Amino acid sequence: MQKRLAGKTALVTGAAHGQGRSHCLRLASEGADIIAIDLCAQALDVAYPLGSWEALKDTARQVEALGRRCFIAKADIRDRAALDKVVEDSAGEFPALDILVANAGVGSYGRVLETPKEVWDQVMSVNMTGTFNTIQAFTPRIVEGGNGGSVIIISSVSGIKGLPFTGAYAASKHGLQGLAAVLAQELAEHNIRVNTVNPGPVSTPLTSDKTGPALLTGDHPDTLLFKGSFSPMLPLDGGFMDAKEISAAVAWLASDDSRFVTGLAVPVDAGVMVR
Ligand SMILES: NC(=O)c1ccc[n+]([C@@H]2O[C@H](COP(=O)([O-])OP(=O)(O)OC[C@H]3O[C@@H](n4cnc5c(N)ncnc54)[C@H](O)[C@@H]3O)[C@@H](O)[C@H]2O)c1
Repeated sequence: MQKRLAGKTALVTGAAHGQGRSHCLRLASEGADIIAIDLCAQALDVAYPLGSWEALKDTARQVEALGRRCFIAKADIRDRAALDKVVEDSAGEFPALDILVANAGVGSYGRVLETPKEVWDQVMSVNMTGTFNTIQAFTPRIVEGGNGGSVIIISSVSGIKGLPFTGAYAASKHGLQGLAAVLAQELAEHNIRVNTVNPGPVSTPLTSDKTGPALLTGDHPDTLLFKGSFSPMLPLDGGFMDAKEISAAVAWLASDDSRFVTGLAVPVDAGVMVR
């Protein structure tokens, strides 16, 4: 594995399992030390398992097995004070920060007209406000380093196209596209690049949610509408990509190989966007 990120430190949210863990391992394998944050509690109203403290510790063990350091913290990205505490607590061991991967997010499925207000609020507060909090808490540390850096926001194909049954989620991810486009301009003077990665279907605990992605394979009456918009074009084992495919794009955006790439949305979607 190339060491494109030797000497760098990366922050990853939602790092206990799924794509977040995969990003930590890929960035570490390329030489980065990691600050890994997760909610570590089943503290959201969702029909799939969220990350646990044990799982986050396991992420750290796997990063350390790659020869890199890993600082872990239990924090809810909706809670700005909790994130500020991570900034403070990690400052001794990791005074510099170069890469920020705002990955933590929550899914939800259902027709817009049937979406409870509580579900809308939960999705907006995690995906939009939580990502805003993460960026506002940690980006100043990249600015202070004076060496530039890379902010990578994990959006979705749902951030670019309207996937039926993902109204709240799509609205939140479309919002992140706006946030990224503005930040790319505001942070350019510090040589900090801001891009989104927009995954298609990825096999993670989130996609084990029987109320949503299972529509891709099930015999639900809404399957045709959902599939017509969300099915990949390329052949995929079981209809989902492995998280490491998304991590490859994250590592590229984190590295100098993309040093003049900013303000971009990068779909890694096996062809969902071409539909
Ligand atoms: N899996 C997919 O098919 C897919 C497709 C497109 C985009 N995405 C996006 O990719 C990102 C990662 O998704 P995933 O599939 O790995 O999901 P996941 O649910 O498997 O993992 C998300 C992690 O984030 C943590 N998390 C959730 N809310 C949090 C909060 N408030 N504070 C801190 N941590 C929190 C969870 O505990 C969990 O460990 C999300 O932003 C998701 O919207 C996923």
